[in-house]
Amino acid sequence: MSISELREPRRRVGTTGERLLDVRGLRTSFTTRDGVVRAVDGIDFHVNRGEILGLVGESGCGKSVTSLSILRLIAPPGRIEAGELIFDGRDLLKLDSRQMRELRGNRISMIFQQPTSSLNPVFSVGRQLEEVLELHRNMKRRAARDRAAELMRMVGIPDPVRRLDAFPHALSGGMAQRVMIAMALACEPELLIADEPTTALDVTTQEQIIDLLQEMQAEFNLSIILITHDLGVVARVANSILVMYAGRPAEFGEADDIFYRCSHPYTRGLLDSVDYGAYRPGEHLHPIAGVPPRLDQLPPGCAFHPRCLYAEPICRDSVPEFGRVPSGHTVAACHPALAGRLNLHRAGAHASGAREL
Ligand SMILES: Nc1ncnc2c1ncn2[C@@H]1O[C@H](COP(=O)(O)OP(=O)(O)OP(=O)(O)O)[C@@H](O)[C@H]1O
Ligand code: SF4
Ligand SMILES: [Mg+2]
Repeated sequence: MSISELREPRRRVGTTGERLLDVRGLRTSFTTRDGVVRAVDGIDFHVNRGEILGLVGESGCGKSVTSLSILRLIAPPGRIEAGELIFDGRDLLKLDSRQMRELRGNRISMIFQQPTSSLNPVFSVGRQLEEVLELHRNMKRRAARDRAAELMRMVGIPDPVRRLDAFPHALSGGMAQRVMIAMALACEPELLIADEPTTALDVTTQEQIIDLLQEMQAEFNLSIILITHDLGVVARVANSILVMYAGRPAEFGEADDIFYRCSHPYTRGLLDSVDYGAYRPGEHLHPIAGVPPRLDQLPPGCAFHPRCLYAEPICRDSVPEFGRVPSGHTVAACHPALAGRLNLHRAGAHASGAREL
């Protein structure tokens, strides 16, 4: 299946272009015995109202730390060192802890990477949903129960009234994930951060959960940061995409520009290494050779240079700025791309190492 086959059939929801979240220069680090790990090292991106941002990159590149930083859920030895997180005009980093608590769940909510560990095994799912509504919405128990059933129905759980009394262990992975989505949407947030919401699920259930998120986006004009390894999922639903590598931004732009006109060799490598949901004989995939570096042992210069077929001498010496590519449509951190010397629009360009300078 090609990218265009995945992107075309779906109705992606148009957006107003109104900025909801603006992340500027975010830096988050962890102090460990071996030194300081810069898990997020100067990330810039934004999310518009009603828009799905796909956040992609190989394991350990800082996707979860970015999302936890937005909610200010980084615990020691982690620390947000710098940046601005402008949400609806206010810098989240300037709010006190009470204001931040009010915002979490109410205006920004999150589906964590481990869904089952986020549900408490000793309470029924209904009770857990009711508690969110009682705490955040000051609902009385009866009203909270009715609303909990309504939310369960909304996220496609059959026989929701009976299921309110089910305990988490009695639910399939897909149903547990639907409950997590119901909980995240209980207070009608404006921004939902979904960290790998489909990883543990079978392919059919993955599709249903992604469809559900897209329905919720349309129905509530919800903005979603969708963190995933799966570029096929991103191809189907994303309006914009941020690609991260080793804690740093590699490329950010409109989804069509990333898929059809990317400017960063790492983005090209990721795009070429995916089978977009269905392998067909004759389709050749090209995994990026090598593995990402440890964040406490980053190579100098561009962290991608040991794996990059386009590396130039400057790439070993200096970290590329994250800026608008003159001949492209995206913002990228790559020396030759920023100098307008790289054309990676052709699929397979990274794997073949074809230089189109
Ligand atoms: N509590 C911690 N203590 C020390 N280092 C940490 C901690 N949490 C995260 N890190 C560092 O931050 C890096 C980024 O972690 P993060 O969980 O954001 O990666 P990720 O992109 O979400 O990966 P995955 O796709 O596997 O979920 C890790 O490689 C690790 O080095
Ligand atoms: S800066 Fe150099 S090493 Fe880094 S991605 Fe661009 S060409 Fe490759
Ligand atoms: Mg993660």
